[in-house]
Amino acid sequence: MKFAVMGTGVMGCGWITQCVLSGHVVHAYDANADSRAAVARICEKLAGKAAKKFNFDQPGYAQKAIKKITTHAKKQDFIEAAQRCDIFFEIIFEDMELKCAVLAEILPQLPPKVIFWSNTSSLNIDVLAEAGGRPERSIVTHGMNPVPLMPGVEVVPGVKTSAETLEFTRKALLDMKKAPFLAPNIPGFWVNRLLFPQMLDAIRLLESGKIQVEDGDVGLTTCLGHPQGAFKLYDFASTPTILRVALEMFKASDDPRFYPPLMLVRMVKNGEFGASSGKGFYDWRDPRNPRPRKLAEYIISSAENMTQNVIKKPVF
Ligand SMILES: NC(=O)c1ccc[n+]([C@@H]2O[C@H](COP(=O)([O-])OP(=O)(O)OC[C@H]3O[C@@H](n4cnc5c(N)ncnc54)[C@H](O)[C@@H]3O)[C@@H](O)[C@H]2O)c1
Repeated sequence: MKFAVMGTGVMGCGWITQCVLSGHVVHAYDANADSRAAVARICEKLAGKAAKKFNFDQPGYAQKAIKKITTHAKKQDFIEAAQRCDIFFEIIFEDMELKCAVLAEILPQLPPKVIFWSNTSSLNIDVLAEAGGRPERSIVTHGMNPVPLMPGVEVVPGVKTSAETLEFTRKALLDMKKAPFLAPNIPGFWVNRLLFPQMLDAIRLLESGKIQVEDGDVGLTTCLGHPQGAFKLYDFASTPTILRVALEMFKASDDPRFYPPLMLVRMVKNGEFGASSGKGFYDWRDPRNPRPRKLAEYIISSAENMTQNVIKKPVF
């Protein structure tokens, strides 16, 4: 099959790699030139990791797979390529207004038979589907990070999604060796509806000085079997993405558990995006040996302490 993938950030690169490893052809586009330029390098690295994990490592395997990716520098060229694709896959920022504007622009330019997949983590598929104007052929396929290593995919149909689109999607994902499962169309679906209150609480406890980054992650990995712990997971997912998802879930539900903690907002404002920026809850200057940070400047220990900090060195 042919995929048109819009958005080549963390998840876009993950899905592109998954698609080409499954034998599909990918046309990709991102509004950000740096993001476009990094596609081949990131996908090759991810393909290598998947090959090792699933024991299909052969010399040159990853390099061969990434030859099936065409990254377009011009949006119009991408749209023309997307017109000949089977699936248009939206993987841009978690922002309802932005996604709707992009879908309203692009989808009407594609033939009606093209299926629309969204990798949204939390947004209402009915709203996205109506924005794109082909609700019968629209569905959420929410993959997990890093996509080629994590089998689970939440499949969320909207009220107008046809039975054919659902079945086509389920089969396409199974053919890609994914593990699709049906999830409800509620803010955060199944996985993030459960995960986010816990994940945001981890930051609240850190911010109030009750736990340290390292202890928190050791606790979750050794007691609950989490693969990496809450804070390392944040650093891989990126703090801006977590902030966007939390805000969108809060806007959609008014549930205060999703309201982002101040610490997360301040870290994003200060450019501490996680592993990709070299600094997040861990210091990633040596990526093989990330060091948990103390983050003293973010701990809300006393009003006096905060006031003095603000007077000496404004954060905002
Ligand atoms: N990061 C995760 O762990 C994770 C996990 C599951 C789902 N998701 C979801 O996947 C989607 C993408 O998240 P991400 O983590 O890859 O974000 P990201 O910030 O790494 O990448 C998003 C990309 O979208 C591009 N973009 C934004 N607006 C655009 C536009 N108008 N046209 C073209 N490109 C545009 C950006 O330049 C950026 O490269 C979101 O819906 C997010 O909620 C993220």
